[in-house]
Amino acid sequence: MRWDKRDDMLVHEWEPFNAEPPPAALADAPLTPVEAFYSRNHGPIPQLEGDRWSLGVTGLVERPLTVSLSDLRRDFAPCTLAVTLQCAGNRRAGMIAVRAIPGEDPWRDGATSTAEWTGVRLADVLAAAGPADAARHVAFEAVDVSPLADPPQRYGGSIPIAKAMAPEVLLAWAMNGRPLPAAHGAPLRVIVPGYIGARSVKWVRRVTVRAEPSDNYFQAVAYRLLPPDTDPDRAGPDAGPSLGPIALNSAILRPADDATLPPGPTTVSGYALAGENRRVVRVDLSADGGRNWRQAALDPRPGSYTWQLWHADLTLAPATDTELVARAWDDTGALQPTSAESLWNPMGYVNNSWPRATIHTSAAT
Ligand code: MTE
Repeated sequence: MRWDKRDDMLVHEWEPFNAEPPPAALADAPLTPVEAFYSRNHGPIPQLEGDRWSLGVTGLVERPLTVSLSDLRRDFAPCTLAVTLQCAGNRRAGMIAVRAIPGEDPWRDGATSTAEWTGVRLADVLAAAGPADAARHVAFEAVDVSPLADPPQRYGGSIPIAKAMAPEVLLAWAMNGRPLPAAHGAPLRVIVPGYIGARSVKWVRRVTVRAEPSDNYFQAVAYRLLPPDTDPDRAGPDAGPSLGPIALNSAILRPADDATLPPGPTTVSGYALAGENRRVVRVDLSADGGRNWRQAALDPRPGSYTWQLWHADLTLAPATDTELVARAWDDTGALQPTSAESLWNPMGYVNNSWPRATIHTSAAT
């Protein structure tokens, strides 16, 4: 498999490379091995050399900076954090089942993965540059040029300055203790915990402090939540908000939907993830399509900015179909929405409806 991924990745596109792991590969451990971590790209993956790399910090700052990777390692305190990345298009397949979404990949539950990221705090680098009083947003510009943007342009995006100055936002050069692979943004990428994956810009080469959000295509046009009747290509700037913090979501990872199992005891497992500054406090599982519920056990979390793996034991009756449904609650008391119908939007973002899986059981032997 290219880009050192597992052979059984579900590849939505080879160019640009877009692939997710089989769901069960995420269920085994709270940290996702690099070989299984989903990869989401809008253009060709650049292969860059770290020792020739420099990052510019410009815009509304008192002291514009140009720093190499060794400057970052030498001048700023290192930081390692476990963080879950989730693409806004995660679980789009469930929205496509409601109504077609032409031109967008049918991601299942696997556009979500967790790794330990090592780098420096963006806040420390910004503090060295000295943001001006008018600073409201921090924009990131990458190297890769996306032919999908209109007009074609380098990938970019932005986050509010308050988030950029929060201690959890990283400029990262390592993933799970190893140098960042090309497909995940080597030599340097942004990690924005709690925000949609689109804001964790890979191959970042410029950070610009601004009064306004980035006008990059992937901030101003794509990755917005548009009303169902909107044509994404013609939607004006006020048609819908750019997505930032991620929504409460969950998935059933094992057993796989449509699997046939022998009757008897089985364990159902999955993930649940609450966005910015919230945590999952409860996951329920139903084995009868949502009529009756039991609480699943929550596994320990690898960090404050990660998913919560969960599991529940069931006994499967012989020769039946079992309709599994899961639902997660966060610490504000919010519950996931019931179905994808009410959530459908023209780009298929943020399907955080209750995940469902049908399990067939063979006859007793
Ligand atoms: N950064 C650049 N430069 N180019 C991209 O195409 N894709 C974004 C984000 N950063 C992207 C990018 C999206 S939509 C997601 S979900 C995450 O990267 C995925 O990160 P991963 O490929 O490391 O899993």
